[in-house]
Amino acid sequence: MELFKVTFGLIVIASLSATLSSANPGFNIGWGSHGGRSFSLFPEFYQFSCPQANDIVMSVLERAIANEPRIAASLLRVHFHDCFVQGCDASVLLDDSATIVGEKNSGPNKNSLRGFEVIDEIKAKLEEVCPQTVSCADILALVAHGSIVLSGGPYWEVPLGRRDSKTASLNASNTNIPPPNSTLQNLVTSFNRQGLDEVDLVALSGGHTIGLARCVSFKQRLYNQNGNNQPDQTLDKGYYNNLKSVCPRSGGDNNTSPLDFASPAKFDNAYFKHILWGKGLLNSDEVLFTGSAGTTMQLVKIYAEDEGLFFIQFAKSMVKMGNISPLTGFNGEVRKNCRRIN
Ligand code: HEM
Ligand SMILES: *[C@@H]1O[C@H](CO)[C@@H](O)[C@H](O)[C@H]1NC(C)=O
Ligand SMILES: *[C@@H]1O[C@H](CO)[C@@H](O)[C@H](O)[C@H]1NC(C)=O
Ligand SMILES: *[C@@H]1O[C@H](CO)[C@@H](O)[C@H](O)[C@H]1NC(C)=O
Repeated sequence: MELFKVTFGLIVIASLSATLSSANPGFNIGWGSHGGRSFSLFPEFYQFSCPQANDIVMSVLERAIANEPRIAASLLRVHFHDCFVQGCDASVLLDDSATIVGEKNSGPNKNSLRGFEVIDEIKAKLEEVCPQTVSCADILALVAHGSIVLSGGPYWEVPLGRRDSKTASLNASNTNIPPPNSTLQNLVTSFNRQGLDEVDLVALSGGHTIGLARCVSFKQRLYNQNGNNQPDQTLDKGYYNNLKSVCPRSGGDNNTSPLDFASPAKFDNAYFKHILWGKGLLNSDEVLFTGSAGTTMQLVKIYAEDEGLFFIQFAKSMVKMGNISPLTGFNGEVRKNCRRIN
């Protein structure tokens, strides 16, 4: 019976993927290809040049997470916000300077994105052991993976070999990262633009099984969901009352609430169970179940029932997200300090 369920779930996911990718031919080719030459990422990239890279990442992470469990969530989110803006090239880490307008002050990032000091600490250690070898973009991918493993989530082999950008895009950061009040259609379109399908959208949204969101990110749902001064009707009533006490109609914008109230520091499938019960925190979470795109609702149900399937697909979709337009070969550079170009 258990085996049957797993097999059935995998078939559903596989057939959804097949349908979606044949609807978007071209999204699976051309990644990592620049100027006619193609380099692809692979897990053993630093095997000879910096074999200690992942151990260094993990040891800094272990201490940082022991000190503040939320930092795992914050660091996972940095990789997502990096990859959706001109690819996974560490553009998100660049500070504003005389020559660069960074992405840290974009709508989605300002007063929200965190964890940069942990990246600095890892980079400093790596520069001591293997100078100018491990890119900031690869550090973000390893850190995202390590954060999930240390929070109880799945393990996978992380493809490596990304290089760092010499530019950033504030505009793309504002445009490409979907806002929390997105409709399901907005979310699907935004992910499709990155070569990600509905299976990836639902699995990666499962990243919200850890971490917190500010009141300002879900206030619209409590007080004025559709411009009629009414709450979002899909919100569970008890949950709605709890949220109102954290997030008043006016003020309190920086107050925070867990994205998965049951286990905000544990990477599990509770996020999907909550969505079934009308207890998704963000509009973008709940619409995966209530929105009318069909397939995403089925996927939420499958992952709520079977954590193993969620873990398998999450790992696959993380690799796919980590493959968005990397700089490879002689493109870009390996920064010495993740906050500025060399
Ligand atoms: C599907 C579209 C998505 C939307 C609309 C969205 C939106 C948001 C928002 C608004 C917050 C709270 C920020 C704040 O209030 O300061 C947040 C937090 C978070 N997001 Fe997403 N997100 C999406 C997808 C993802 C993906 C793909 C991942 C990673 C795989 C991710 C990982 C996280 C994590 C871990 C947090 C908590 C961060 C912390 O506690 O510091 N999100 N997201
Ligand atoms: C929220 O926190 C940020 C710093 O993270 C601060 O600049 C801002 O003024 C705060 N907003 C409110 C309404 O307290
Ligand atoms: C901003 O970015 C969007 C999407 O990446 C693009 O369509 C638009 O042309 C850009 N606008 C400017 C002013 O660069
Ligand atoms: C989402 O929020 C933004 C900023 O508060 C607002 O301008 C926009 O109209 C909202 N979109 C929807 C679909 O409610």
